[in-house]
Amino acid sequence: MTATSERLLDAPLSALGAHLHPAIIAIDGPAASGKSTVGYRLANALGYLYFDTGVMYRAVTWAALTRGIAITDEQAVGELAHSIAIDLLPPQPGQQDGRHATVLVDGEDVTWLLRAPEVERNVSAVSAYAAVRAALTAKQRAIAHRYGRGNAERAGIVLVGRDIGTVVVPDAPLKLYIDATPEERARRRHRELRQQGKTIDYDQVLADMLRRDHIDSERTLAPLRQAPDAVRLDNSDQSADVTLTQALDALRAKIAQST
Ligand code: CDP
Ligand code: CDP
Repeated sequence: MTATSERLLDAPLSALGAHLHPAIIAIDGPAASGKSTVGYRLANALGYLYFDTGVMYRAVTWAALTRGIAITDEQAVGELAHSIAIDLLPPQPGQQDGRHATVLVDGEDVTWLLRAPEVERNVSAVSAYAAVRAALTAKQRAIAHRYGRGNAERAGIVLVGRDIGTVVVPDAPLKLYIDATPEERARRRHRELRQQGKTIDYDQVLADMLRRDHIDSERTLAPLRQAPDAVRLDNSDQSADVTLTQALDALRAKIAQST
């Protein structure tokens, strides 16, 4: 072990974040694999911004559904993606309801509306459209680079999505691919929906999720793929605490390699 890697083992987490250049962590993986859980905790531990890119695709889908735009109308949905304002804000003191960020579409708080089954069912079709991806990828990349270069109010950024390590920021020095079996992922999503008071069959949740995974992985543009240099963490049988520890180990290893 080098002197640098020994020092990194003892470094406080916020100090660790200062050693990553650019300060960008990319996290990808299928639905309900635990990406947001590990991404949010990692961002808080390091003093980085947490950025869930999936909410942007959900926001466009929600806006199309509420404005009566047919999801099959690629041109209209693409124009919508360019025209609506999507803002992500840290939760305010009165908003401690489990949200990781507040999502505004044209000023309206839609944070929980984005989790509706109707949005969940249509978001993969919307995400496959070229104009939608072009609009959202450009915004995500600009935000990532601003934080990554240290020109923002946090020391770095953790982005979570499907194509972060492969397309949005392939230059991210640390890439994680979070995975779990489809059955375990459906159990988790089913449990979340029940906790929100929604009655839905486990089999239906599993079927919807597999359908979404299939569209996300098979689409031509920016499909869900593990980047060749990503660290794969399967948490089917392990707690979120263990995954966080493994993610921090991967970060320490990456920093030690580059110093
Ligand atoms: O939380 P969960 O993994 O279920 O979904 P999400 O991250 O909120 O993403 C919702 C959908 O947005 C995904 O199923 C993808 O179709 C799309 N998405 C994408 O295409 N690219 C991203 N970088 C993030 C999400
Ligand atoms: O962001 P993504 O859709 O990949 O998943 P998530 O929202 O982080 O996690 C989906 C659900 O699985 C949440 O309710 C987490 O608390 C839970 N989870 C779990 O039970 N065990 C883990 N090791 C990771 C997440």
